[in-house]
Amino acid sequence: MLELIAPTARLHIAWLAARDDWGRGVHQDGSGLRPDDDVDSPAGFATWVRGLREQADESRPAPEGRVHALYWWIVDGDEVLGAMSLRLRLNDFLRRAGGHIGYGVRPSARRRGVATFALGGALTEAGRRGLDPVLVTCDVDNVASARTIERHGGKLEDMRDTELGRVRRYWIRTASVG
Ligand SMILES: CC(C)(COP(=O)(O)OP(=O)(O)OC[C@H]1O[C@@H](n2cnc3c(N)ncnc32)[C@H](O)[C@@H]1OP(=O)(O)O)[C@@H](O)C(=O)NCCC(=O)NCCS
Repeated sequence: MLELIAPTARLHIAWLAARDDWGRGVHQDGSGLRPDDDVDSPAGFATWVRGLREQADESRPAPEGRVHALYWWIVDGDEVLGAMSLRLRLNDFLRRAGGHIGYGVRPSARRRGVATFALGGALTEAGRRGLDPVLVTCDVDNVASARTIERHGGKLEDMRDTELGRVRRYWIRTASVG
């Protein structure tokens, strides 16, 4: 059964299997993973997971250049299939290019509805938190992501050249979600 769960150090081995499916050093959309994060050692992984969870805590300052955000892993049982993030507000970069929501599905789990399921969960949580509408963006050539967004009612505002390349910018209403 597909679920969105909070990142947990318990799933270290399963998470590494998913990371290896993407490939070491490959950017995993929505995961919060940065190139210098130590995720291979148990202690490094636990620290990284704690950092992800803390980014939702608005009583702490957000990391430099970032906004507060929620992270989830998309799992099926103990198998990690992907990641989803919900930024709790927009800064100039996010309004222009990055949007509120990021997601990625490991290559071997694609094309079976995983992203569609997970975006639904993130939109429900966004609505609960009063984020309405939310901005979701994708590369102009990313047909899979554009379809995922459109399936959830995304309305295209524009396509723009940004520091992430040329992106489609969609707004999704959350009030009626969930
Ligand atoms: C984009 C991504 C998250 C889609 O994940 P997924 O779990 O395969 O998506 P789903 O199975 O829920 O499919 C969603 C829609 O996209 C379509 N789709 C999926 N992969 C596709 C592909 N390669 N080409 C064309 N359409 C595709 C599906 O048919 C479905 O549309 P439909 O409901 O109209 O049939 C995944 O491909 C991925 O992680 N890509 C790399 C990272 C990325 O691009 N993240 C998004 C950044 S904005």
